[in-house]
Amino acid sequence: MNVVVIGSGVMGPGIAQVFLMGGHHVIMSDIKVEALAEGTKEIRNSLTLMVSKGITDQDVITLMSNFQTMTSLEEAVKDADLVIEAIPEVISIKQKVYEDLDRFCPKETVIVSNTSALPLPEIFPHFRPGNFFVAHFMNPPQIIPLVEIVKNDKTNPEKVAWLREELEKCGKKPIVINQFIKGFLTNRMQTAMAREALYLYEKGIVSLEDLDTANTACIGFKSAWQGTFETMDYIGLDTCAFAYNVIFPDLCNDTAVPAVITQKVKEGKLGLKSGEGFFSYPEDSEEVSMQRQAGLLEQLKLFNSYINK
Ligand SMILES: NC(=O)c1ccc[n+]([C@@H]2O[C@H](COP(=O)([O-])OP(=O)(O)OC[C@H]3O[C@@H](n4cnc5c(N)ncnc54)[C@H](O)[C@@H]3O)[C@@H](O)[C@H]2O)c1
Repeated sequence: MNVVVIGSGVMGPGIAQVFLMGGHHVIMSDIKVEALAEGTKEIRNSLTLMVSKGITDQDVITLMSNFQTMTSLEEAVKDADLVIEAIPEVISIKQKVYEDLDRFCPKETVIVSNTSALPLPEIFPHFRPGNFFVAHFMNPPQIIPLVEIVKNDKTNPEKVAWLREELEKCGKKPIVINQFIKGFLTNRMQTAMAREALYLYEKGIVSLEDLDTANTACIGFKSAWQGTFETMDYIGLDTCAFAYNVIFPDLCNDTAVPAVITQKVKEGKLGLKSGEGFFSYPEDSEEVSMQRQAGLLEQLKLFNSYINK
């Protein structure tokens, strides 16, 4: 099929790579030529890394021959079966692109947004009703298996089933969320955990390093193999009931962004992209990013080996 990814920023190139690896013809479109050049380089590097890690034995040159970049949206989407919008989270920018998509896309094209938070089918109720919904990829999208497909009351269930199947064929693990909910699923769960971690850190109860170790050495370690409900079954639901009775009332339920975050943002300490956040990073962020990808690819190898058995 013909897949078009709009936006070659943090997410677009990885999403394009997913469909390239699934055997599709992919066009990536952006208003900036430099962004397209950078995105193309990222895809090539990531494919090469995947081959070197044994994730795929596909030929990088053959895969890249199925890939094109274009600044003209009209030209890019004229034969599109699927369009994935991954442009900035700014309603006015999205609105202009949807108006153009409505003019230039074939009638049957399925159009999904990778929005992290905006209820777009509600904001643009007249834009391609039925064929427009949310498909939320996780960062980095070429590695993390999950994709959240978020339905709205106009979504055509056949299109959801079709996209789910196509994503599965590309090696993804899509899930369907039946109605728009802020943060969808994973961001709600991650945010709940982040709030508690920030609360414990601000109170001085645990160091940053030890909080992160709790994740990698226990919560994340187990979660890679068993889900939340399965874990509750292993614990014993009676024991869960006793524990939740004690712990729930003690958990943080603040609704404001914690001061430790707002202060760092004020100081320009934004994390990897500025060289410092909670931790410090070397200047070569591309190197850090490739190291992170290499670690996640080891996890993907494990995931593929047990999920497919
Ligand atoms: N960054 C993440 O971790 C992440 C994760 C999941 C979802 N998302 C969502 O994905 C979407 C894209 O996020 P991102 O982080 O990749 O953004 P980004 O800012 O890194 O990249 C956006 C790209 O879109 C391009 N662009 C801007 N206007 C355009 C237009 N009119 N036509 C074509 N291209 C245009 C920009 O030049 C840029 O290259 C957002 O909706 C965001 O909320 C982001």
